[in-house]
Amino acid sequence: MSDSLRESEDRVMLKALESSYCPEPIKEARERQDEILTERFRGHPYAIADIGCGTGYHGSIFAPACRLYHGFEVSTDIAEIARQRWHQEELDNTELFLGDAAQAEPPANFYNLVFCLYFTPGNFREPSADLSVYTDAYLDRNPSFIAIFSKFYRSLKPGGLMFLTIYKDVSEAEAAQIDFYEHTDQHVVTPRGARFVATAENFWSARWTQQSLLSNLKACGIAESDVIFGDLNHIAWLVEIRK
Ligand SMILES: C[S@@+](CC[C@H](N)C(=O)[O-])C[C@H]1O[C@@H](n2cnc3c(N)ncnc32)[C@H](O)[C@@H]1O
Repeated sequence: MSDSLRESEDRVMLKALESSYCPEPIKEARERQDEILTERFRGHPYAIADIGCGTGYHGSIFAPACRLYHGFEVSTDIAEIARQRWHQEELDNTELFLGDAAQAEPPANFYNLVFCLYFTPGNFREPSADLSVYTDAYLDRNPSFIAIFSKFYRSLKPGGLMFLTIYKDVSEAEAAQIDFYEHTDQHVVTPRGARFVATAENFWSARWTQQSLLSNLKACGIAESDVIFGDLNHIAWLVEIRK
């Protein structure tokens, strides 16, 4: 990806993360995601990886009691915000790995928990200005997604858990995505009904069917029997994967 496209994507991503506006169904899904994870996992001495950790919000919740918290973040500016936040909160057990998570080298059998939250799994793709490359076949077997989740599944300890928050491929989710991006000064360029929403500012966010997620996970060596789709609301799943 050219530097200017990367910068544009990072800029609008940060704007969305810091926006005071959030469509109600997205806000509700995020709050439910956080309630579930906090109730189950806060206060335990786990080793946690957070893929696409953003500005460090979940590190602030879990790092105070966990053994270590590793954030993986591709945007230099967003990573710096997370780093400073954790530094100010004196969370010395945190570490920020800057770069594309597809290039990360997490150790095998290491983490108790791997998070990829707030619709981040739908942002992974090999960048292209030509949106026609993102066919249904691509979305069902996305090389960037597969590179990332193969590595991080290997990095889970046996018995460890991975959590992914994803949009369901329903029109209400698409409407909420478009509403969100337009309220953060972006210009949607995809036609209604496409499986992903892309903007002129280089933002890209896919929606999922259970079949499309399972086919990507299968390519990562993850069996359907180890995957649970938990409903957050009518537009989102919190997917739990057991190793
Ligand atoms: C929707 S935001 C979610 C941020 C955070 N997890 C949260 O819940 O607030 C997605 C984040 O993933 C990062 N990201 C996107 N693609 C990435 C990649 N290939 N490797 C690492 N980080 C990535 C983005 O820069 C952004 O900060």
